[in-house]
Amino acid sequence: MSRYPLHLDLTGRRVLVVGAGAVAARRVRSLGDADVRVVAPDVADGFPDVPVERREFRPDDVDDAWLVLACTGVVDDEVAKACDERRVWCVRADDAAASAAWVPAVSRVDDVVVSVTAGGDPRRAVALRDALALSLQTGDLPLRRSRQAAGSVAIVGGGPGDPDLLTVKARRLVAGADVVVRDRLAPVVEVPEGVEVVEVGKTPGGSSWHQRDIEWLLVQKAREGKRVVRLKGGDVHVFARGMEEIAACVEAGVPFEVVPGLSSALAGPTYAGIPVTARGVTQSFAVVSAHLPPGDPGCTVDWDALARLGGTLVLLMSVGRLSAACAALVAGGRAGDTPVA
Ligand SMILES: C[S@@+](CC[C@H](N)C(=O)[O-])C[C@H]1O[C@@H](n2cnc3c(N)ncnc32)[C@H](O)[C@@H]1O
Repeated sequence: MSRYPLHLDLTGRRVLVVGAGAVAARRVRSLGDADVRVVAPDVADGFPDVPVERREFRPDDVDDAWLVLACTGVVDDEVAKACDERRVWCVRADDAAASAAWVPAVSRVDDVVVSVTAGGDPRRAVALRDALALSLQTGDLPLRRSRQAAGSVAIVGGGPGDPDLLTVKARRLVAGADVVVRDRLAPVVEVPEGVEVVEVGKTPGGSSWHQRDIEWLLVQKAREGKRVVRLKGGDVHVFARGMEEIAACVEAGVPFEVVPGLSSALAGPTYAGIPVTARGVTQSFAVVSAHLPPGDPGCTVDWDALARLGGTLVLLMSVGRLSAACAALVAGGRAGDTPVA
C-alpha cells in the first residue's frame, strides 16, 4: 500500500490522544504547539502536563479533532472506526497495517527534518533515522541550501590543521556553507561544487588581506543571503582576532554564531608528545604570543612574571623570536636548563 507523506502544521489545532500510557506520553511530547486533549480512564506516572479527561472514549470525542492518536491497545479499533465515520485521520498504535496514518521516526538537524517510515517496522525506521541524522550532523550529506534565505556568519575554529580535528559542528556548518572564508593555517576542507572558497590567509611577511577587509567580506556575503563559514585555525579567540569579526557582525546586524575549535596551543604539544600538565612535574601552563618580542614597545607580556610563574609555557608565533624570548625568561629567573622543544 502506498502512503502519502505529509508534514502537518498542528499549531493551535485540536489533536485528540486516546490513552495515557507510555506510548501516548511519547506521542504527546512530539505534538509541539498543538491543542492536545487526552481521554483515558487511567494516566501513567510522569504523563505530560496536558488536559486529560479521565473516562472511557466516546465516538463524539473525535468531533472537533483534526487528528486522532489511538494509543490504548484496547479500544483503538473503536477509535479508528469513529474517525473513519467523521473523516478524521487516525494513527493507531496497536496495528500499523490497519492504521489510516503513520507517525514517522523524526529527527531535526539544523533546519532539515528527517522523517522515516519503514514498512510499518518502527525499530527499523528509528535505526535508519538515526543513521541519516548522524550523517547530517557530521556534514557527510549535502546540507547546502539551493534556495537563498537569510544570510549568516559562522565564526568557526577549525583546529590545528588536520581535517580530522574539525568538530562535528564545524563539519556540518562547512557542509551547509555557500562561502568558506579560510585562514592559511585552517584545515583544507572539501567543499561541494559551487561553494566559494576565499583564501584570506595572512602569510608572515607575505601579501595578505587586511583584517577590516575580511570583516567587510563576511558582512557583505551574509547580506547577499549567503551562509558564510569563517574558518579559522585553532580556536577563534586564541590570537585569532575573533572578537573583531564578531563585533563587525554585531555592528552590521548580521546573524552569527561562534564555534570553538581545538587550539594548536594544546593540540601541538599533545601531538608532539609533550603534556602541558603532568602530575608531579607541572601543574599549570600559560599560552603566550611572542609575535612582539620582549623589549618591543608594543609588547604587553610581562616576561619577568612568566619567568617566575613556573609551569609550562606555550609560545605561539615565536620561531623568529625564540632566542629573545629565552633570554628574557632566563634573565627573569627561569633555570637555564629548562627543557625546551
Ligand atoms: C595567529 S596564531 C593563531 C592560533 C590559533 N588561533 C590557535 O588557536 O591555534 C598562529 C600561530 O599558532 C601556531 N600554530 C597554528 N597552527 C599550528 C600547528 N598546526 N602546529 C603548531 N603551531 C601552530 C603557530 O605558532 C602560529 O604562528
